[in-house]
Amino acid sequence: MERTLIIVKPDAVQRGLTGEIIKRFEQRGLKIIGMKLLQVNKELAEKHYDVHRERPFFAGLVDYIISAPVVVMALEGTDAIVATRATIGATKPAEAAAGTIRGDYGLEIGRNLVHGSDSVENGEIEIANFFTEAELCGGWPRDVDGWVFE
Ligand code: RTP
Ligand code: MG
Repeated sequence: MERTLIIVKPDAVQRGLTGEIIKRFEQRGLKIIGMKLLQVNKELAEKHYDVHRERPFFAGLVDYIISAPVVVMALEGTDAIVATRATIGATKPAEAAAGTIRGDYGLEIGRNLVHGSDSVENGEIEIANFFTEAELCGGWPRDVDGWVFE
């Protein structure tokens, strides 16, 4: 089992796509082990995107992610990292495959609707940045688990 941090970004929340995005991960079989709505502060945004600190788009990226509430989710499942990134689609929505979230709902890189962790290690770090241990229901026995996981 892997764990990943998903962020329904401000543009998706503003556009009323939160439910649609949650639905896609849920229907895929991923198990929600944490979820909340919050407005990210600058300190947390800069920590989350620290790897991009030196990039020219960093300031705009931070301003975007703090501009309105987001919904953050910790998801658990088999190959959760690669599966969620496939469901999210390519970073540039204009190039994202139809059927992916970005390919169905986005056009521009700075309004790409959703974040997903890019490695198991970063997934654990990012979940810890956004959730306390008490806010997570890790490994809760979902009744359909046997029909999703082998
Ligand atoms: P994310 O981290 O948000 O899931 O997106 P990602 O893995 O597909 O893309 P990443 O390379 O990690 O970039 C993080 C976010 O930075 C913005 N970005 N803008 N203007 C640009 O050239 C540029 N490049 C990246 C995007 O919003 C991207 O999601
Ligand atoms: Mg990324």
